[in-house]
Amino acid sequence: MKQLTNLSYSLTLLITLVLNVNCKEKTEKKMKEEPIKTATIERSEYGTTTDGKKVALFTLKNKGGIEVEIITYGGRITSLKSPDKEGNLKNVVLGFDNLAQYEEDNPYFGALIGRYGNRIAKGKFTIGDKEYQLAQNNGDNNLHGGLKGFDKQVWDAEISEGETSVSLILSYTSQDMEEGFPGTLETKVTYTLNDHDSLDVLYEATTDKATVVNLTQHAYFNLSGDFSKPILDHIVEIDADHYLPVDSGLIPTGELASVEGTPFDFRQPKMVGQDISVENEQLKLGGGFDHCWVLNNQSKGYREVASAYEPASGRYLEVFTDEPGIQFYTGNFLDGTLPAPTGNYEQRSGLCLETQHYPDSPNQSDFPSVLLEPGEKYMTKTSFKLSTK
Ligand code: GLA
Repeated sequence: MKQLTNLSYSLTLLITLVLNVNCKEKTEKKMKEEPIKTATIERSEYGTTTDGKKVALFTLKNKGGIEVEIITYGGRITSLKSPDKEGNLKNVVLGFDNLAQYEEDNPYFGALIGRYGNRIAKGKFTIGDKEYQLAQNNGDNNLHGGLKGFDKQVWDAEISEGETSVSLILSYTSQDMEEGFPGTLETKVTYTLNDHDSLDVLYEATTDKATVVNLTQHAYFNLSGDFSKPILDHIVEIDADHYLPVDSGLIPTGELASVEGTPFDFRQPKMVGQDISVENEQLKLGGGFDHCWVLNNQSKGYREVASAYEPASGRYLEVFTDEPGIQFYTGNFLDGTLPAPTGNYEQRSGLCLETQHYPDSPNQSDFPSVLLEPGEKYMTKTSFKLSTK
């Protein structure tokens, strides 16, 4: 009997041991398989375009409380919530609350812009001995890719989840001669939100024929989160000794003008409203700031190039890029006709910091080249980092 008891005791001990080891292994495995995630991404339905395409909405969140909403229609950032210095979360990018409104002619709110962000004079350029004619959708010129640019396409979406960052990978194949541009352009844009409160935008493209490419992001920021307030009190800094003066169609004249002693000098932080109304031919042509700045330190590649600060909320936006230029646009064409969360979007209710190559580069051989050849890879990165101070 005693022997039996001993045996059963030993058996119980063994089973307990085995179970324990097993359990420990499982917990360890679980810990390895499911690390604590500090960033999340979720998908939901957003709507259907007038031509019957389904549009999805992705919500990216990080540990700092930043929340970004991106739709597959135009790869648009429809909302970017960030805390102010007291921790109050507010959306700081202009947008609409429904797809139909985005589909109507609009000022490219939050959109990915391609194939060519900004203007091409007379919608014309040549590669080798071939001339290409694009739509003249902005006076005589081509603007932001033409009549149906990347801002109006529905992109395919995939997600990728890390422990401290999440990515939305959008892709779109632009067919040979779409909007008049040569070459099948395989385009991929990856939005990554990380725990450093930075939204990174990585642009990649390849072509099967020589073509021109200049992709950008067209978010309009109003860091106050109150879109009924103009952005004139934002303090902007742009690391550029030169800017590109334009003609009456906002095409660069080709001159790289010094910002020294002009309203275009943002080398030290300056209130947007400080010089916007001074008597200046270039400001008149743009209806305010709507120019490309020639960024400093181009040979450094990816670097900080610009920032905007809204003193009342304390929100601070820093822009990093490897691009040579930035179009600083002060929402001059907003005219109070488009619906905002309260009232309408008035002139200067948002500002854009569009990193890019210079406008009209396909026609200006002194500007950095925008030519993409088969076998080459177009790759450029821009980050929007949010904080408070
Ligand atoms: C860019 C252009 C502006 C205007 C806006 C969209 O910023 O430079 O002139 O076209 O896009 O309205």
